[in-house]
Amino acid sequence: MTGVLVTGGTGKIGRELVKLLRANGVPVRVGSRTPAAGDPDAVRFDWDDLATHPAALAGQDRVFLVPPTQSADPLPAVVPFLGRAQSLGVRQVVLLGSAIPLAPTAQELAAHVRAQPGGVVLRASGFMQNFLSPHPLGERIRRTGQIRTAAGDGRVAWIDARDIAATAAAILMSDLAVARDERDHLLTGPEALSYPQAAAIITTRTGRQVRVVHVSADEQAADLRAAGIPPAFATILATADAGVRPGQEDRLSTAVLDLTGRPPRTFAQFVREHAARWTTPTV
Ligand SMILES: NC(=O)c1ccc[n+]([C@@H]2O[C@H](COP(=O)([O-])OP(=O)(O)OC[C@H]3O[C@@H](n4cnc5c(N)ncnc54)[C@H](OP(=O)(O)O)[C@@H]3O)[C@@H](O)[C@H]2O)c1
Repeated sequence: MTGVLVTGGTGKIGRELVKLLRANGVPVRVGSRTPAAGDPDAVRFDWDDLATHPAALAGQDRVFLVPPTQSADPLPAVVPFLGRAQSLGVRQVVLLGSAIPLAPTAQELAAHVRAQPGGVVLRASGFMQNFLSPHPLGERIRRTGQIRTAAGDGRVAWIDARDIAATAAAILMSDLAVARDERDHLLTGPEALSYPQAAAIITTRTGRQVRVVHVSADEQAADLRAAGIPPAFATILATADAGVRPGQEDRLSTAVLDLTGRPPRTFAQFVREHAARWTTPTV
């Protein structure tokens, strides 16, 4: 292996993945629009600036791919990147996707990645880290003690971002998934919980009162726009939130255990480890 370009290398999954790869002696490039000056592995990578792609890919044989976030259509940016990666000798691409396809072209994007040499798609369930600021959900909890959701009592198989990173690292460091032709993995935590159940766990374990306010998908989209999310993507996220109500994210898989050898963290564990993040007084 020559090295892994981690796109979204400063994000919730990317930065954990970078730590794991480095701990295992794997050379990395940390892709970011604003590469850290003090990090010799940091490289400028911007989906909106095609000129940054070849230099970021040069000399790397594997890619962890976080598609353009908050984009209603990632295809125009990602498809040429995949072609470029293949022509530069990349032999494995691991895509971070989501359990519920968000953008209308998300499934097409996943098909492009699966067709790539060594292409593997990770379909991650909702991140536990969404409950922490600066995610809009976590930021609202921090400020107001409220969760506003269109999901009702529908359940999500919440997963810790660190378990997604560990699974990606296991795949990137071994050819096993590709050798077995396992091109698609649903990644979930160990249990599915509704927002009211998650709120109760935070309240019980931290003392911070968190209550759920049920809203419509339209109200949710308006909240997301107010939080700075582009309108088209706010609608996509609100629709996905409403899709939780009939059970679209109420599915469990054993992929984290199967691929890493360790069970995924529980929500209660996650809350215990981050308790101080919710007990900060409301400002
Ligand atoms: N949150 C969930 O529950 C969930 C569930 C399943 C899947 N996902 C997916 O997981 C991915 C990560 O989501 P997130 O919101 O959690 O990410 P995040 O932690 O906020 O990180 C986003 C990363 O993307 C990079 N980035 C943003 N715009 C970019 C651009 N134009 N060019 C290059 N890099 C760019 C950022 O790097 P710089 O700012 O340093 O450039 C950052 O490293 C998304 O694709 C999302 O759909 C999320």
